[in-house]
Amino acid sequence: TIIPVLLAGGSGTRLWPTSRRSYPKQFSPLTGPESLFQASARRMSGPDFAPPMVLTGDPFRFIVTEQLAALEIQAQAIVIEPEGRNTAPAVLAAALLAAKTDPEALLLVAPSDHKIADAERFRQTVTAALPAAEAGRLVTFGITPDRPETGYGYLELAPDADAGAGEVQPLARFVEKPDLERAEAMLASGNFLWNAGIFLFRADAILSAFKAHAPDLIPTVTEAVEKAERDLAFTRLAPEPWSRVTDISIDFAIMEKSDRLSVMPYGGNWSDLGGWDAVWAEGGPDAAGNVTSEHATAIDCTDTLLRSDSERVELVGIGLDDIIAVATQDAVLVGRKSQAQRVKEAVAALKAKK
Ligand code: GDD
Ligand code: MG
Repeated sequence: TIIPVLLAGGSGTRLWPTSRRSYPKQFSPLTGPESLFQASARRMSGPDFAPPMVLTGDPFRFIVTEQLAALEIQAQAIVIEPEGRNTAPAVLAAALLAAKTDPEALLLVAPSDHKIADAERFRQTVTAALPAAEAGRLVTFGITPDRPETGYGYLELAPDADAGAGEVQPLARFVEKPDLERAEAMLASGNFLWNAGIFLFRADAILSAFKAHAPDLIPTVTEAVEKAERDLAFTRLAPEPWSRVTDISIDFAIMEKSDRLSVMPYGGNWSDLGGWDAVWAEGGPDAAGNVTSEHATAIDCTDTLLRSDSERVELVGIGLDDIIAVATQDAVLVGRKSQAQRVKEAVAALKAKK
């Protein structure tokens, strides 16, 4: 069986005001009735999967418990990071914990803030990648790119790879978050896939990769795991060693450096919902290009996202084009949809005012 390792510690600022520091986007229902975190947990459940391990920050521990309980999913561990140190330390902690029981445990590391509509197809793709992971490969999942996105990792297929074959392919290179020029070149070459941010590997395989490529993380993270405290359902990593842990992502720490990478192409729909423009696209725009939530109404609008997260706030747009308007109980965002990526500036501006 596969142990899902759900990373739920990040705080997306591009979906403000729905995504808040106190309630990040993965816990909000963005395009359906369940939160993205719940949809991820459900997607990685079933006969092939062991109960998940969830890694998150202290402020979110009860949100995690409640949202899993609502699905009747029991986590095998909810690991609390005293502070966010990015994904590499989180993955290392998960691998060390899993290896205590079974060094060859198969871990499916996944973000909890993506939308993958076809859960069954996703599970089949993971199953097809199992033999490679069992053989010690670090398996990434690749998405066909459609724009020179600079916020993603890029996977260069080896010359003899066949991305359409539906099986694991050899990988030549992993390039995390290139600048625009390099992203454009990689897109144009047709030989790259996007990294979906999902990884499948054996615990001992990723541990040897850490030894080889990020050995400085091992003493502090190991100490934080060894001195972890059990507190109710939570495994609380020890704060003092954790405060000395380097902040680095798994992509930069391991994936860009490893020569044991493979890629499993994923042909299904995938979105990391990295902004309101992506939420609009995933929300199924109507014939006029509008997406409206339950408490929102569009009159004579085109290409617009109108969303109210509060049943106490009715939102109405008239004669709008290319607009996102998002209202919550205590904040309203209005802006051009074509400038949706600038929402992080709103968060920065509000922070500066405090
Ligand atoms: N537990 C925990 N602790 N989770 C974290 C932390 C942390 O300190 N930091 C981030 N996460 C979670 C986020 O909530 C998200 O679910 C996942 O880990 C990935 O982190 P992001 O910060 O969203 O990474 P990214 O989007 O910039 O880049 C990654 O994902 C892209 C695809 O969306 C990379 O893997 C890219 O290569 C990839 O293309
Ligand atoms: Mg992300």
